Amino acid sequence: MDFVNGSLLILPFKNNSFDLILCWGIFHHTVDPYNALKELIRVLKKDGYLILAVYQKTNLSFLHEMVRKVCLRIKWEIIRKVFIKSMAVFVAFLEFLGMKNNLRSDNVKIESQVEDWFFVPIKHFFSIEELKEMFYKQNLTFEVLCMQAGRLKSSSNVIVRGKKIGDG
Ligand SMILES: C[S@@+](CC[C@H](N)C(=O)[O-])C[C@H]1O[C@@H](n2cnc3c(N)ncnc32)[C@H](O)[C@@H]1O
Repeated sequence: MDFVNGSLLILPFKNNSFDLILCWGIFHHTVDPYNALKELIRVLKKDGYLILAVYQKTNLSFLHEMVRKVCLRIKWEIIRKVFIKSMAVFVAFLEFLGMKNNLRSDNVKIESQVEDWFFVPIKHFFSIEELKEMFYKQNLTFEVLCMQAGRLKSSSNVIVRGKKIGDG
């Protein structure tokens, strides 16, 4: 296995390099997801598959965004820690009420999930329809593999797959 460091917006690979690309939770954190998709398709071989895990737009996405924008303004470490702890307690309560979704085995701490939701500088949400349109425009087929992969239903990744049917 080789590890290569690079940006999703300028992938350090030649055109048509891969049979399968798994892009998990990255696309929606770039400044330009549309060009990130074009870049992924550029390096995907014809008939190759792209699997994306992307934050799905829900009725509560705007609320997540409001909280994230406030969190990004927190300057004091102590406030940040208190916020993360309180939010983790709140999320644990929601889970206790049954709002729990699929859990990732590698990300079991609620605190790390809270940081991942609210302390990222760039975050985009996409509806299934938006993703489908983006895929079709780029000559990809489109199918949903998993509707919700995430801790809470209001903030989950949708996992989609596309096959490159043209030259991208
Ligand atoms: C939520 S994490 C996902 C990490 C991992 N794939 C996972 O599922 O645990 C988002 C990652 O996207 C990376 N990222 C953001 N913009 C990027 C870009 N333009 N190119 C490559 N990686 C980027 C960040 O560095 C961060 O590690």
